Amino acid sequence: MSPFHLTRILPEDATEAALRADVLEGLTRNPKTLPPKWFYDTRGSELFEEITRLPEYYPSRAEREILLARAHAIAESSGARTMVELGSGSSEKTRYLLDALRGLHTYVPVDVSTSALRQAAQTLAAERPELEIHALIADFTSQLTMPHTPGPRLMVFLGGTVGNLLPSERSTFLTSIRALMTPGDALLLGTDLVKEEKTLVQAYDDAAGVTAAFNKNVLNVLNRELGADFDPSAFDHVAAWDAQNQWIEMRLRARTAQAVKIPALDLLVDFTAGEELRTEVSAKFQEEGVREELSAAGMELTQWWTDEAGRFALSLSRVS
Ligand code: SAH
Ligand code: TRP
Repeated sequence: MSPFHLTRILPEDATEAALRADVLEGLTRNPKTLPPKWFYDTRGSELFEEITRLPEYYPSRAEREILLARAHAIAESSGARTMVELGSGSSEKTRYLLDALRGLHTYVPVDVSTSALRQAAQTLAAERPELEIHALIADFTSQLTMPHTPGPRLMVFLGGTVGNLLPSERSTFLTSIRALMTPGDALLLGTDLVKEEKTLVQAYDDAAGVTAAFNKNVLNVLNRELGADFDPSAFDHVAAWDAQNQWIEMRLRARTAQAVKIPALDLLVDFTAGEELRTEVSAKFQEEGVREELSAAGMELTQWWTDEAGRFALSLSRVS
């Protein structure tokens, strides 16, 4: 097998410290929250892959349809020699781009999930011996340093994951992505679109309960990493559409009043019966909003493609 680089930007103990800080901050405020990046331990990444195959979870299929139809147009327009992918996960859909980008020299997948990243890099290295693979274990919301690789660069952010950032986080994020780009580089961004509430809610509350298991898995992460004693079965999975903010909100609702010990933080967390902990938002977009957010970050949206049914969009933007 051909080699690939796997670089850990975040040392193990920094991850641990970040988890503690996030949990302390999130569980001592009202309402309680947790940031979504802690979903993705090995089990969480597996569950997410299962979500992408659910009949209710249309975003993955819709985005795949667009990539299949447009990969050549994207490749031609970008002429990228380096492709950087944020939150790459299994790099499954990325294959359409890797196939279409004829002159590609280096692929840089970036993810917090070591297991997903290693598996994806290993598989791709075996399939594509000519491709340089420089996998980065890193948090894309913190300062990213890119390896020195040939340009132009195509930055790729798929899966609608940009919608998992809150609006203020999103503008900071897009501005920092812009700072990594030079003229001639491009950003390919996947955004899920506003649609009928029922379709949206079902995508995050499937009949088989996979999304519920995924949501509750974050409690297992806290149990394992911080010695907490959450009982996942004492919480219900909730997915609700917030029309004001135009996002789906994922929550865990305590079925009864309970107290949870978190020894690593020397903390006792009380839940009242019915109290909800917000674990994630997933914002849904319209073309004008995406254009404006990119423009505010110093980029110009030049192409906009949707699937046939108009559920999901890919946009290509350039430094303005
Ligand atoms: N791009 C894939 C996976 C989307 S799921 C797809 O479209 O199917 C979101 C991915 O982003 C997961 O692999 C998760 O581990 C990663 N992720 C979430 N928050 C992150 C963060 N702050 N920094 C880096 N990766 C993150
Ligand atoms: N980026 C995905 C999305 O917003 C992540 C996701 C899908 C997710 N299903 C989920 C996160 C369920 C938490 C719970 O669509």
